[in-house]
Amino acid sequence: MKFQELTTQERIDQLVREGSLGEREASVLAEGPGLPTAMAANMIENQVGAFPVPLGIARNFIIDGRPTSVPLAVEEPSVIAAAGNAAKRCRDTGGFVTSVERGGLIGQVVFLGHLERPEAFLEAHLDSIRKVSRDAHPSLEEHGGGLRDVCVVTYPEADIVEFRLTINPGEAMGANVVNTISEAVGRYIERASSQLRLLMAILSNSAPLQRARATARFPFSQLPASGMEGSLVAQRIVQAGRFAQLSPQRAVTQNKGIMNGVDALVLATGNDTRNVAAAAYAALNEHHRTWTQWDVQNDCLVGVIDIPMPIGAVGGAISTLPVAKTAMRILADPDAERLMGIAASVGLASNMAALRALVTRGIQAGHMNLQLRSLAMMAGARETSQIERVVSVLSQDVTHADLSRAKAVLADDMTGLRWERA
Ligand code: MEV
Repeated sequence: MKFQELTTQERIDQLVREGSLGEREASVLAEGPGLPTAMAANMIENQVGAFPVPLGIARNFIIDGRPTSVPLAVEEPSVIAAAGNAAKRCRDTGGFVTSVERGGLIGQVVFLGHLERPEAFLEAHLDSIRKVSRDAHPSLEEHGGGLRDVCVVTYPEADIVEFRLTINPGEAMGANVVNTISEAVGRYIERASSQLRLLMAILSNSAPLQRARATARFPFSQLPASGMEGSLVAQRIVQAGRFAQLSPQRAVTQNKGIMNGVDALVLATGNDTRNVAAAAYAALNEHHRTWTQWDVQNDCLVGVIDIPMPIGAVGGAISTLPVAKTAMRILADPDAERLMGIAASVGLASNMAALRALVTRGIQAGHMNLQLRSLAMMAGARETSQIERVVSVLSQDVTHADLSRAKAVLADDMTGLRWERA
């Protein structure tokens, strides 16, 4: 049976059989949202509950030669099916090939005041700044991270001097590491200079040096849809990609579709979705409106994504939330670089699926089944059999499928049948 045809428990059992899950993680999934009240109460202030989002698996991914089940946490129907569907279409050509740059995060240590010779000041204090940074986070260097670079930027018009730190966060996402080091360096410099008063010390969420790239080749033979040949679908996808580069309005929508997959992976693994969004959008400008590019080469549609991806594999919610740990286990406990490559691959797959649907039969046809399911649930259906009965009746006349009809079908099977015949 196909994965999507199994029950939730059968899917969990299959992941255990495939070795993606141990019995303990399987029980975390089977037991429900997996956020003990005591843990939730200690994660945020004024906690009153938890807000569960469904966790699903996008299948069919091959990423750098490895078959990969991708856990995605998302409330929007179709995102998981679409990503898995696109991933299937590039399996024969090797799936997704990724490359990652983890060049460090930026910390901004900002002062009010003026330095006569800022470069000379930095040179005189560089060794001490390095020591302060090491002492602020001793374990970071043991894990291969730490301060990599410091430069000084002056803003004479505002009487502001910035010391810009580049910090390798090791395997962590890095916000805490960078903020801790930046604050310590800020205190040191303030003590060392009579002319500077610390204004702030904080991570910059722009992450131009933490980037993930992924490429995939989709043979024309994998692309036909709605009676269109694969080569035509490929050309139309290339044109759609160009349109996103030309039209800011379209680019915003295309980028939202890419984020459908990226964000769902980032959330599932306990990483910070806002951080990734801030960094990714910061990389865009009028010459570069979107993160993907589509071309045709050797009877294949070739997609490339290049996107800032400041995520980590340890620390914070990644290492504490039971469901996030389970998601990491499903991904075979990737290191930060592999996780970044997986996120980029899911973004590319989401974009490919959306573009193929848009330039062929349109987006609504594929969404309809899940929309009818959500209508059935809004009408009050809870049992799978009830939901399926409502969907099956409504799908016979989708143009008139609305909440009142869904309620009518649910209230009385015969009412539904009579409506269907009317
Ligand atoms: C919907 O969530 C995302 C899409 O609008 C993306 C796109 O248009 O490329 C389908």
